[in-house]
Amino acid sequence: MKAVKGTRDILPPASAVWNRVEATAREVFRTFNYHEIRTPIFEETALFARGVGEDTDIVGKEMYTWEDRDGTSLTLRPEATASVMRAYIEHRLDQIPGIKKFYYIGPMFRRERPQKGRYRQFFQIGAEAIGSESAIVDAEVIEMVVELLKRVGLHSATEYDASLPVPAVVEPGKEGFHLILNSVGCSACRPKFMAALKEKLATIAPTLCVDCQRRSTTNPLRVLDCKVPDDQAAIDTLPSILDYLCEDCHAHFRVVQEHLHQRGIRFEVRPRLVRGLDYYMRTTFEITHGALGAQNAVLGGGRYDGLAEALGSKVAAPGIGFSIGEDRLVMSVGEGQEPSVDVFLAPLGDAAEVHAGALAAELRGAGVSVERSVDRKLKRALETANKMGARFALILGDNEIAAGTYLIKDMASGEQVPLRREELIGHIQK
Ligand code: HAM
Repeated sequence: MKAVKGTRDILPPASAVWNRVEATAREVFRTFNYHEIRTPIFEETALFARGVGEDTDIVGKEMYTWEDRDGTSLTLRPEATASVMRAYIEHRLDQIPGIKKFYYIGPMFRRERPQKGRYRQFFQIGAEAIGSESAIVDAEVIEMVVELLKRVGLHSATEYDASLPVPAVVEPGKEGFHLILNSVGCSACRPKFMAALKEKLATIAPTLCVDCQRRSTTNPLRVLDCKVPDDQAAIDTLPSILDYLCEDCHAHFRVVQEHLHQRGIRFEVRPRLVRGLDYYMRTTFEITHGALGAQNAVLGGGRYDGLAEALGSKVAAPGIGFSIGEDRLVMSVGEGQEPSVDVFLAPLGDAAEVHAGALAAELRGAGVSVERSVDRKLKRALETANKMGARFALILGDNEIAAGTYLIKDMASGEQVPLRREELIGHIQK
């Protein structure tokens, strides 16, 4: 049997990179005072229909939905922001003082067409800051995710042209990440933009690809996201949301940008950046990576000030967050190596076998990783230690036990030294 299409096994040594990325993320979240939230893998379907939006591709055609035995419609979560907001409302998390900051790491499910970087079960590392409309929070959330990317070893590919008074992005490099920023306005200004967009689309839609022809009636914003090369010139003639922002949204967006500049974070404003979920308001962003190919968005996020109300809350809960596609982040970081075992312990007789058990426990207790051989043949044991990439082999024969010294072999240099028990840990950890 094989893993289901679009799902995969994360095997060693790749799993070591996943662990390192997750440990780094947790550390960065801690320093920004975010706390972990674990929501269920499945929820009532209505949560995503109302939160993410009926007309989105996610809800329209990508969800794994089934009817439970009692007739309730349930869905494997395609994303976690709606779930976090549901938990926030359900548990009155608005009572927490200050801005409420949560993070999550876990699998999401979307029935998309599988390809490199796109899976039906994929993992996200996400964070949500709820309880403030301030543009400073937007800048801090972006600062945090940029810090996270840097800490896992990625760097920005975006260069500024310093000769210009307002720094402008020069063509981003192929290596490294690239932050794209936009504002999608609010309920006051977006309808005017939508009206203008639809009006213009009515004239150009027949010249666009079939998907865009459909989207121009079902979800006109998504036309802006079209990647078909032949459509680009026509799409560039569509109105820009930035020309329609109301005073408040305009000011908000300006402050976000100022604060990013102050933090030395480079970005490109791209008015055509629309996201595939309906809850966004004002700031939206994505980070792409040059090494990724067609599915090049490492992460996406934005502000969702009306989401709580859409889910039935009477209390407003403006928020902003992002989700990193962990599968894609790991691809950008590149292949990793499982840290090799420190000591390969080779006991050669019955007494040594007993002794090895106690010694292994002592070494492990001091944080040294130990693999115990069950092969009594010294040559074969050393071959295995070599293939495993063990740092040291420790050969335990009756003579060694009687003498109270151990012969420890450095597998890289081949050097063998006799050591007393109390010297062992220091030597290995050196
Ligand atoms: P999203 O753009 O739908 O946003 O997903 C975020 C990231 O998840 C994408 O940029 C991508 O890296 C990864 N991703 C999405 N679908 C797949 C897939 N099929 N296979 C592999 N990776 C995938 C959200 O999910 C929002 N909840 C983000 C957010 C949080 N907005 C505010 N807070």
